[in-house]
Amino acid sequence: MNNFVYDIPVKVYFGENQLGHLGEELSKYGKKVLLTYGGGSIKKIGLYDEVVAEIKKAGLELFELSGIEPNPRIDSVREGTNICKKEKIDVLLAVGGGSTLDATKWMAAGACVEHDPWDFFSKWAPVEKALPVVTVLTLSATGSEMDCGGVVSNPETKDKIGRMARPLLPKASFLDPTKTYTVSPYQTACGAADMMSHIMEVYFDMEPGMYMLDCFMESMLKTVIKYAPIAMKEPDNYEARANLMWVSSWAINGFINGGRQIAWSCHPMEHELSAIYDITHGLGLAILTPRWLEYCLDETTVSKYYQFGVNVFGIDPKLDAMSVAKKSIEMLRDFFFETLQLKSTFTEVGIKKEDFPIMAKKSCGGDVLPGFKPLKQDDIEKIFEMCL
Ligand code: NZQ
Ligand code: ZN
Repeated sequence: MNNFVYDIPVKVYFGENQLGHLGEELSKYGKKVLLTYGGGSIKKIGLYDEVVAEIKKAGLELFELSGIEPNPRIDSVREGTNICKKEKIDVLLAVGGGSTLDATKWMAAGACVEHDPWDFFSKWAPVEKALPVVTVLTLSATGSEMDCGGVVSNPETKDKIGRMARPLLPKASFLDPTKTYTVSPYQTACGAADMMSHIMEVYFDMEPGMYMLDCFMESMLKTVIKYAPIAMKEPDNYEARANLMWVSSWAINGFINGGRQIAWSCHPMEHELSAIYDITHGLGLAILTPRWLEYCLDETTVSKYYQFGVNVFGIDPKLDAMSVAKKSIEMLRDFFFETLQLKSTFTEVGIKKEDFPIMAKKSCGGDVLPGFKPLKQDDIEKIFEMCL
């Protein structure tokens, strides 16, 4: 393992009936709270009322911003930033899935600068500070509740860009699995694919000496494979929802990197699909990942696939390495497209070949997408063709 610093200072309240601590957490940062949420699912599940009651009980002043879109738009970030500045907000409370959390993090950063928040993405303007953010998660998927990243879309420029910056780390996150009971089977499946991708983007790497972290990642992958189908069939199965929720956070909070210089592959490609077609992030990843794995498989990488096939899917270790590798990709496809019932091709979701060159060019920044295997524009176009 390489040297690394492990420092993830997000306070997690996990489990049922933890919202009683919300007031005390928010009060640490001041009196004025901006509550942000999406299209209304939190009202349907009664969470909005619970959160507002806690804020009132703590004697805090409440401001609200609703309507944050899936694949959140820069305009929502701008709106939140303006409220923060105008009302001198002390702390932001994001209640929802990754989209609400991500947009809120960037509002918090935008509130501390004079320039347009899109400059964080288009000009890579420095992120030196942000207002404090507290989250209440309602969908297990992105890990935004425990990481310092956020992804924002700009429909005008057809860009969807993610960026990590330490000041964006939430101060505290409330993870109550019962709040995910109403997540649809489709969003549960997309969330599962997203978490698995976060793990596989790191796992598929040829750096030796990562035994402990590889085992940890394999157990997280097995956890998703075991519990996602159960959560789809039995939405209020606490054990399934709880296991998925905790994987969501640990898949991307930095722990599994172990000092590796990780460059991701499927995420940059997927963000270009979502940027043009506004598709669900996890669905795009499910379509891309098996094809990416197929494309990167050769004699130099096969040992990692063998390890994956044997340890995650339980394939017979006596088979030769290439057969295990191919079978592992097949089993991953079956899991995404049969068990999770996700659409399996670009054609089915309306992604057209004419956009491949621009999407591929942007995925690799016009140069090379470093990662498990470095990919140039024509490699990425070939992977896209495999997805048709
Ligand atoms: O908007 P509402 O009404 O809340 O409905 C949402 C939305 O329609 C609904 N939902 C959420 N919780 C629910 C619920 N419906 C019923 N019951 C509940 N308890 O689900 C829909 C999707 O929500 P969204 O927040 O968009 O999903 P997700 O959590 O998958 O977030 C996706 C976004 O996160 C980004 C993605 O690119 C995408 O923009 N990512 C963020 C990352 C990060 N911060 O590190 C990493 C990821 O790789 C990812 O890129
Ligand atoms: Zn993701």
